[in-house]
Amino acid sequence: MQKLNAVITGVGVYVPEYILTNEELSRMVDTTDEWIMTRIGIKERHILREPGKGSSDLGVNAVNELLQKTKTKPEEIELLICATVTPDMQFPATANIICDKVGIKNAFSFDVNAGCSGFLYALSAGAKFIESGKYKKVIVVGTEKMSSIVDYTDRAVCPIFGDGAGAVLLEPTTENFGLIDEILLSDGFGRVHLHQKAGGSLKPASFETVATKEHFIYQEGQPVFKWAVVKMADVSLEIMERNNIKPEDLAWLVPHQANLRIIDATASRMKLNKDQVMINIQKYGNTTSATLPLCLYEWESRLKKGDNIILSAFGAGFTWGAIYIKWGYNTN
Ligand code: UT7
Repeated sequence: MQKLNAVITGVGVYVPEYILTNEELSRMVDTTDEWIMTRIGIKERHILREPGKGSSDLGVNAVNELLQKTKTKPEEIELLICATVTPDMQFPATANIICDKVGIKNAFSFDVNAGCSGFLYALSAGAKFIESGKYKKVIVVGTEKMSSIVDYTDRAVCPIFGDGAGAVLLEPTTENFGLIDEILLSDGFGRVHLHQKAGGSLKPASFETVATKEHFIYQEGQPVFKWAVVKMADVSLEIMERNNIKPEDLAWLVPHQANLRIIDATASRMKLNKDQVMINIQKYGNTTSATLPLCLYEWESRLKKGDNIILSAFGAGFTWGAIYIKWGYNTN
């Protein structure tokens, strides 16, 4: 049998309407637009405020747009993988809920929890199903209602995160497009620095865990920053070198949008120019599993068939990695 590659054939996204600006944040906690812009690079983020809506609802909108754009019927989808750290519920999987709400009936579906590297891990997993030859249409969706686990009295965390979702369709090709190479890594030691203390089996929810705010993101910013800056650049450089991609051969770096300083450090280690790097952190903040598809969507019309693209991320776990893809279509 001919070797099959998994290629992205469409992107759909959704961000909720409400925009939380730095000005509004600076009325909520002791911070300033200047501090947030210089230390993180975020101007505003979208927040899902509608009661009774969760990450699945953001994901549903992204998947519906994707199906429309790619002229795919829900019943054609055979597998949906959802990357999220903010599932609707502890169980069942948010992927199952998205399928139900979209009308995807002939598929199996599951969640991937890999922090901010979730989209990379899910993309890799989805690609393996396509490459096996058994599956023809797989959706990978990253969706997050980060505002559900952010403490809006914690100034070190609340400026960083935003809500949003992005989905891609993976299909097989025998041509040299799609996912070409990947480096995916994790080190569970990193949980010390970035986690949610309560609500899991280790520390189930109680009146006390609510009172002590243990259902929010716990982050030690500096160690996370130090690891992210080194590891995201390491893997991005390594995947470039082992595929013989020179800086001028790379059309785009699609970096996880956690902190502009981390993105700049990664791009500079890869010797890239600013116009080779997708950056939209100023508009959306860190939407965890959704940052990468939100970038792909925004730049989609400028992407050309055959473009060399590296996606890279670092996040809770710790998890990190890079995926090298050859873009598979022109939009016009
Ligand atoms: O995607 C998941 C992975 N997460 C990340 O990649 C996050 C990585 N970490 C970071 O991006 C940065 O560490 C932060 C943005 C979280 C913090 O920036 P920093 O430059 O590391 O600041 P810091 O924690 O060292 O704090 C410096 C000062 C402190 O004041 P003192 O102790 O020097 O008086 C903080 O209290 O800045 C203060 N500070 C703030 N000041 C104004 C912390 N947050 C704020 C704020 N506004 N929002």
